[in-house]
Amino acid sequence: MGFRAALHFDDGVQREVDVAPGQTLLDAALAAGLNLAHQCRSGSCASCICTLIAGEAHNVPGRASALLRSEIDAGMRLACSLLPQADVSVRFAYGSRLTEGEAALNCDAVMAGLRQLSSDVWEVSIQPEEHLGALPGQYLRLQVPGTQTWRSYSIASGPDSPDRLSLVVKIHPQGVMGTYLLERAREGDACRVEGPFGAFTLGNCKGPHVFIAGGTGLGPILPMIDQLRERPGRTPHTVVAFACSREESLFNLDELSLRQDWMARLDVRVGVSRPSPTWQGLAGNPLSLLEDAAFTPDCIVYVCGAPGLIEATRERCTTLGIPPDRIRAEQYLPAPDTD
Ligand code: FES
Repeated sequence: MGFRAALHFDDGVQREVDVAPGQTLLDAALAAGLNLAHQCRSGSCASCICTLIAGEAHNVPGRASALLRSEIDAGMRLACSLLPQADVSVRFAYGSRLTEGEAALNCDAVMAGLRQLSSDVWEVSIQPEEHLGALPGQYLRLQVPGTQTWRSYSIASGPDSPDRLSLVVKIHPQGVMGTYLLERAREGDACRVEGPFGAFTLGNCKGPHVFIAGGTGLGPILPMIDQLRERPGRTPHTVVAFACSREESLFNLDELSLRQDWMARLDVRVGVSRPSPTWQGLAGNPLSLLEDAAFTPDCIVYVCGAPGLIEATRERCTTLGIPPDRIRAEQYLPAPDTD
């Protein structure tokens, strides 16, 4: 005998699926035609993150989990590793529309543009042969040209340029992508892409929006702000805190100030965590640029960057009484060849 799983989405839509004994929630949803956000299906990417709000479920035995301790304590689980042991209710921090699209595409693409944005950050534009249909905040996987190595990058361009997608890439000179970009990259190079992936998308919240970006974590946040600005109705108060470790790594500051011109209620803080003696701006990591008053009880928080930044943001939000389902995180893990 199996179980029923009630899936609650951010837009208020609820779907129910049958889960067979020993079947994961993700497999049951996919079998029922619900394309839940996922990628690795093995517990390592956190794309399938959800919150168990009722019922009992175990994890697939012996499987590692990409979740942080604070996320598990807040009830978060990975749908690809979740084995219901009874009827369950699970909440997803994205709208049901995301589940209605096609599964991720894998197609040929070409390198359409290469531009250095700062000392160690490049903008890489690619033109996929097929329309990926990504939402602002999602990411794709890119095969480094001439190699069998794939890397994941958030999409930094908006839906108004669906055929040319920009990625913001941190350069590690010894890494596979860094070596390619620094030594042999040419516009027109052939590559493959797969996507879109991820559920780091705008939520349905009328309260203030707080965006926290560490380094290249700013990439997906710019198109999310653009989407927020284009939504019908009054644009909510919006705060962006962006920091890099050194000032020469900062990038897209012109893009941020352009958005300040467009949005009267956009508050931007830019900082550097290891400033030089000549730096005259704010000092600190992105989270430290925000005073507690920025986190109002009705706000929604988006954080994109290294695991430590996400963990610290969750801890601070929890202390300030912001519920876990109003904290959206996209975690950037270092690639194996950058260690
Ligand atoms: S799909 Fe990657 S952790 Fe579940």
